[in-house]
Amino acid sequence: MSEKAKVEIMDDGPLIVSGLKSLEDGEGRELAIKKKIALCRCGASGNKPFCDGSHRGAGFKSSLSPGESSVPVKEGDMVIRSLKNGPYEVCGDIELCVEDDSELSGDDPYYLCRCGASENKPFCDGSHKRIGFTDK
Ligand code: FES
Repeated sequence: MSEKAKVEIMDDGPLIVSGLKSLEDGEGRELAIKKKIALCRCGASGNKPFCDGSHRGAGFKSSLSPGESSVPVKEGDMVIRSLKNGPYEVCGDIELCVEDDSELSGDDPYYLCRCGASENKPFCDGSHKRIGFTDK
């Protein structure tokens, strides 16, 4: 049995992802990943989709409740796609939880903001189009 993938939503910071099997860019190319990676969700990284620490200088504030939230994967492989100039598409049989284990989404896939502008973090609300977010 393979290790379960997990996504931790860091308060005012990136997504910390461990145990992920596949990460794809906006063109569908598989990116090389380590056992544990940090994905940008402020939109300011110079190394997207990975976090380079720019959220601190950008003053990124997440509207998520303080602390971390975890996204355990029940079964199967988890795939995250950083959609071109848009959100992360998270695929898999995934239970999305916050600290009190209340479920945020039963959707599969679901979409997590990576531009920093969503009013509904951690989810994408389409604001990336309004601000002209790009992968560059
Ligand atoms: S990626 Fe931020 S609102 Fe869509």
